[in-house]
Amino acid sequence: MSRTVLITGASSGFGQLAAKRFQREGWNVVATMRSPEKDQELGNLNNVVVTQLDVTDTESISDAVRLAVEAFGTIDVLVNNAGYGGHAVFEQATDADIRAMYDTNVFGVMNVARAVLPLMRKQKSGCVINVTSMAGLIAAPTISVYASSKHAVEGLTEGMAYDYKPLGIRVKSVLPGAYPTTRFNSNTNDELRSGDDQLVEHAEVLHSHLQEVAEQMASQGGDVADPQEVADKIFECATSDTPIHNPVGSDAEMIVEMLQSGTRQDFINQFEQMVLPKSTGE
Ligand SMILES: NC(=O)c1ccc[n+]([C@@H]2O[C@H](COP(=O)([O-])OP(=O)(O)OC[C@H]3O[C@@H](n4cnc5c(N)ncnc54)[C@H](OP(=O)(O)O)[C@@H]3O)[C@@H](O)[C@H]2O)c1
Repeated sequence: MSRTVLITGASSGFGQLAAKRFQREGWNVVATMRSPEKDQELGNLNNVVVTQLDVTDTESISDAVRLAVEAFGTIDVLVNNAGYGGHAVFEQATDADIRAMYDTNVFGVMNVARAVLPLMRKQKSGCVINVTSMAGLIAAPTISVYASSKHAVEGLTEGMAYDYKPLGIRVKSVLPGAYPTTRFNSNTNDELRSGDDQLVEHAEVLHSHLQEVAEQMASQGGDVADPQEVADKIFECATSDTPIHNPVGSDAEMIVEMLQSGTRQDFINQFEQMVLPKSTGE
């Protein structure tokens, strides 16, 4: 019998690619998104149900889970993929900006997991895959708030993996490096322009340098990083015995290697030379 995956944030990027990969492999797919009326692809595929789910709206979550069970009987794999990033020096992010990001990136993951885990406990099997980021393992200039949200989900994932292993449920994370997905890298970054002149100028210098470094790191083989790699890693995590934390991407591999070659402070000393422009780091 086919297995069933429910994916959040399936309107674009990794979520949409993962939905297609699972479908190609013969899975039932519940592709959830905030605005399903905009979908032009997934709804036309066999064994795919496209439905509305906003990870900050618990009613939409229970409706989507109910629909999944009605359509396919249960949910075997949950992919918590919905999320967003943004660049700002810490003081440029308002309390409202930070809470909104946490509502999606952190509480959103918890909301959906809370709705799906009772099904998995009942069947004594299942897999929850949280799409975090390499920013869940390290940080960089202008992403302190985003990195803190993804660090939170990395901790959540590891703790939940202990909680649920005895019940037959695996909990894992996929940590992508930088990938050119539809909207993730085209954020308007309005926050970078807020605050006093010193902050705005400082933020612009940090951000433009980081963009250059990130692009170089993400295309180390000479090619632009392919988001399909992340969708494939998600599928691998759902179907194989992978570790709990799963970095993906050539930049991610380079960072992991750097982290393993010395102490955490050794890493920070080395990484700082790369990500801080020379004039501000001295
Ligand atoms: N691309 C990268 O370089 C990168 C690197 C590391 C980690 N990530 C992570 O990968 C995940 C997917 O991002 P992506 O790169 O594929 O970007 P993307 O194309 O912008 O996809 C993000 C998805 O999240 C959805 N979303 C945002 N807020 C939501 C909410 N409240 N409820 C439900 N869905 C919501 C978006 O839906 P709408 O269409 O409704 O906006 C969209 O479908 C995110 O968690 C992101 O943090 C991305």
